[in-house]
Amino acid sequence: MRGIFPAVANNANEFSMPKPASSDTSPPLALAASKLSKRFGSQAVLNGVSLEIKTGERVGLMGPSGSGKSTLLNCLGGIDRPDDGEIWVHGTRIDQLDGHRLTELRRSTIGSIFQFFHLLPTLTAYENIEFPLKLSGWDGSRRRDRVSKLLKQVRLESRQHALPSQLSGGEMQRVAIARALASEPSLLLADEPTGNLDSQTGQHILELLESLAESTQTALLLVTHSDAATRICHRTVHMIDGQLN
Ligand SMILES: Nc1ncnc2c1ncn2[C@@H]1O[C@H](COP(=O)(O)OP(=O)(O)OP(=O)(O)O)[C@@H](O)[C@H]1O
Ligand SMILES: [Mg+2]
Repeated sequence: MRGIFPAVANNANEFSMPKPASSDTSPPLALAASKLSKRFGSQAVLNGVSLEIKTGERVGLMGPSGSGKSTLLNCLGGIDRPDDGEIWVHGTRIDQLDGHRLTELRRSTIGSIFQFFHLLPTLTAYENIEFPLKLSGWDGSRRRDRVSKLLKQVRLESRQHALPSQLSGGEMQRVAIARALASEPSLLLADEPTGNLDSQTGQHILELLESLAESTQTALLLVTHSDAATRICHRTVHMIDGQLN
């Protein structure tokens, strides 16, 4: 089963999110973040950020350099913790989860494409994409099928045995994208996923993200400086002075 909806609530955090009235036919929320604050020393980077993304919805996130876009994604993806506020992913409050449960939820539900890739330097392109599937317990033949398909989708079959240090920036970016998509996350957080790609490859990756997100009803938050990238989104929000509007 995809997602993180357990049959029985085993944590007080689950199922306590307000539920829509039964007459509400809008898709359930993949992400609900409310009044997030985050400081680094004396610098207030997030200053009451609230954001909701529905299942299957694609949202662009724009804003000047240094405005806090990556900081927000790190908080939403459970990589960093906000100082204040709440983050719910498919009905589970994640900002207070302990490390083990947070790691499990991240593996099963959240895909992160990092601005600076964060590929494992001693693993090949193939092995980097395969890594999260190994952690999630996929067996060997299923892993091989999945990684082969992803390598084809990001057009990297010929570079699959190369180490990150032997790849171009755009190739590393495509490995990072394939790795984030590997476990078919229901929430994808993508930090400038086409920032290092030429316009043709960038367009291919955007179309790929759009079609995969559409076919699997993946919720997507896409950080970008490019109007072309926001065209695959249903709406775009802007980070200004630590707030979204
Ligand atoms: N770990 C950290 N420690 C201290 N300051 C940080 C840390 N991470 C980010 N910052 C600061 O927080 C602010 C927001 O950074 P962030 O990386 O979120 O910006 P951004 O909007 O993603 O920018 P860009 O478009 O350049 O990627 C910046 O001023 C940055 O220097
Ligand atoms: Mg950034």
